[in-house]
Amino acid sequence: MAMQGEAAPLIQHFQLQENQSCFASALPFRCFQKQVGDLQLNLLTSGTDRVHGVDNIGCEPATLMAQQAIDKLNPDLLISAGTAGGFATKGAQIGTLYVSEKYVVFHDRIVPLPKFDNAAIGCYPTLDVSQLAADLKLESGVISSGSSLEKNPKDQRIIEQYNAVAKEMEAAAIAWVASLYKTPFFALKSITNLVDERNQSEDEFIKNFDYSVTVLNSTLIDLVHYLQGKTINSLGRQL
Ligand code: ADE
Repeated sequence: MAMQGEAAPLIQHFQLQENQSCFASALPFRCFQKQVGDLQLNLLTSGTDRVHGVDNIGCEPATLMAQQAIDKLNPDLLISAGTAGGFATKGAQIGTLYVSEKYVVFHDRIVPLPKFDNAAIGCYPTLDVSQLAADLKLESGVISSGSSLEKNPKDQRIIEQYNAVAKEMEAAAIAWVASLYKTPFFALKSITNLVDERNQSEDEFIKNFDYSVTVLNSTLIDLVHYLQGKTINSLGRQL
């Protein structure tokens, strides 16, 4: 999770303990852990920007944190959980929860050169969690990542082309690392703002953050219980 505020309710609920020696001291990432039933739960957050004091959101910290997560913790499953912008035309409301389906793309890497074009979009695979989505009553669809919160018509063109249901700032970066290491991956995103309505994404994000995070965390708690006793194979196949 990129933001400490996204993770705080889960840390509180499961009384996760911070492991301060998980990462090299130069790295800002934080790791909160606990054995919950038969799951070793490791919740990582990106830490804060050394200069500005805000959460390290975005693809660069997400890439490095995912690599560190796999290197230090060797997880069976990597989940990118957090908030996202959604689309009223696709049926989203504030607090709608989406799991990733098919693949995860980048919407702001436009390289009009043969083969570089598709490589830039990514289309990194996601675990097929359609059964999980049905069991936990979650929506599903393509998740799209980029480096801006602000609306941008160029981003929107790619989002529409790939029929993405949610727009956020980390999932594709994490999915790329997961694909390198062949670590099963999926994303779970809670909608804070409706990108296709007349509003400023940043205003809506702030206004709806607490509600969206409450819904996200309640589903994450359900998910931790749902995963008990399950293997990756019984969950789904990485596409
Ligand atoms: N996170 C939450 N809403 C977002 C948006 N509209 N764009 C990017 N990241 C987001």
